[in-house]
Amino acid sequence: MRLIGDVGRDSVMSLSGKTVMITGAGGGIGRAVASAFARERADIFATDVKEETARQTGKEVVAVGGNCVADRLDVRSETDIQRSVGRCLEALGKVDILVNCAGILTILPFDKITQELWDGTMEVNARGTFQTCKAVASHMVTRGGGGKIVNVSSIAGKNGGAYYTHYCASKFAVIGITKSLALELAPHGINVNAVCPGDVQTEMLEYEFRTHSRIRGIPEEELRKQWAARVPLGRLALPEDVADIIVFLASRKADYMTGQSLNVSGGMVMF
Ligand SMILES: NC(=O)c1ccc[n+]([C@@H]2O[C@H](COP(=O)([O-])OP(=O)(O)OC[C@H]3O[C@@H](n4cnc5c(N)ncnc54)[C@H](O)[C@@H]3O)[C@@H](O)[C@H]2O)c1
Repeated sequence: MRLIGDVGRDSVMSLSGKTVMITGAGGGIGRAVASAFARERADIFATDVKEETARQTGKEVVAVGGNCVADRLDVRSETDIQRSVGRCLEALGKVDILVNCAGILTILPFDKITQELWDGTMEVNARGTFQTCKAVASHMVTRGGGGKIVNVSSIAGKNGGAYYTHYCASKFAVIGITKSLALELAPHGINVNAVCPGDVQTEMLEYEFRTHSRIRGIPEEELRKQWAARVPLGRLALPEDVADIIVFLASRKADYMTGQSLNVSGGMVMF
């Protein structure tokens, strides 16, 4: 008979010996994700379209005793993705965990969203996420050792938002990609989940404050207070709030979860 506690679980996340590939690793959330995985002793492959920012993340990880290889990766290019996954395999031997953080945002009224802007947003947020999943999941399937994929969607992937039509569409797409791949990859022991952050204090949020301040004629500082006040938990998110949930989803603690889209929004969204 199996006793309570006798389920082969341990108290820490146990990511020692695991390799994690991160896209958009030079951004606010990506950097926090790299640090959080480094704290759990995982090896990190940090990529970003802005190579210098990926290298900076790498330096920060190494400075706290972690192991990190940095690479330039533009998720709009399938060739670039293949090359980068290849480099990760060369440098670190495998990919156990993929975290898709790369993303872009523009805020515009519907009649100013050009075909170019629509396609550009989809190209990075939706297609880029899918193509990176495709390349890494193919490696995971061939390797036969299972794996974990965590995609960064948004509460904009659950709710609409005025001036966010193209961004919302791309983040809803990320949830669709996550659910479909979760079903297809489950027989291979690969879990695919998403996180849906609320307002996280990164460059992207600073752009939102600047833009809304201009559109609505409200000072940025006032907007900051208003946005924090609408969060039930009473504050904007830190990148670390999101990173902790991503690490959990990538750990053995989440072995029985797949196809889920977890809100990390301080209670702003509950479905
Ligand atoms: N900050 C928020 O409030 C918030 C809320 C919900 C979801 N998100 C999502 O979280 C993710 C990370 O955002 P962030 O807040 O850290 O923003 P950020 O702007 O700091 O980081 C985004 C990163 O993605 C990289 N990137 C952009 N285009 C790329 C491409 N073609 N290929 C590879 N990398 C590319 C950027 O260089 C940047 O480093 C994004 O997907 C974003 O949509 C952010």
